[in-house]
Amino acid sequence: MQIDKVIENVLNEQIYYEFKSAFAYLSLATALGKTHYAGFENWMRKQYEEELEHAKKLYDYIEERQGSVRLTNIEIPQYDITTPLEAFKIAYELEIENTKHIHGVYALAVKNNDYPTQTFLHWYINEQTEEEKNCQDYIALLTAAKDCEGSLLMLDHEAKKRA
Ligand code: FEO
Repeated sequence: MQIDKVIENVLNEQIYYEFKSAFAYLSLATALGKTHYAGFENWMRKQYEEELEHAKKLYDYIEERQGSVRLTNIEIPQYDITTPLEAFKIAYELEIENTKHIHGVYALAVKNNDYPTQTFLHWYINEQTEEEKNCQDYIALLTAAKDCEGSLLMLDHEAKKRA
């Protein structure tokens, strides 16, 4: 069944938010690239790639439902940060914002009795929970490490392993 225009519109908006997140993460990676935390730079770049995938999945889904994909300009934020903790605090806010958008799309899919879209969005709802937790965990670890360079470098080393 062809997708309703109302749902098509909010899914297109969600593509925008996923790309926006992607470039926010890339921008955080760029900022961390100016520090000696190469592991966290890597982590942010991997997240950038994941966010691109989130956008692409939405793109594919809209087409699968015979809808029209519409792309809009993305403004790329610049972050004046110097520590991984600052980066993860920004990332956490981004994820909270994105969770609200996903929940909004889901609520509309429920209101419109669009069952395929509800099922499709389950993956995103779970993903948001996981991504918020990842940020919260790093905020807790980096806060605990405080100014202990040894602990920060160990965390950075772990972050470098993210594939
Ligand atoms: Fe695609 Fe981090 O949400």
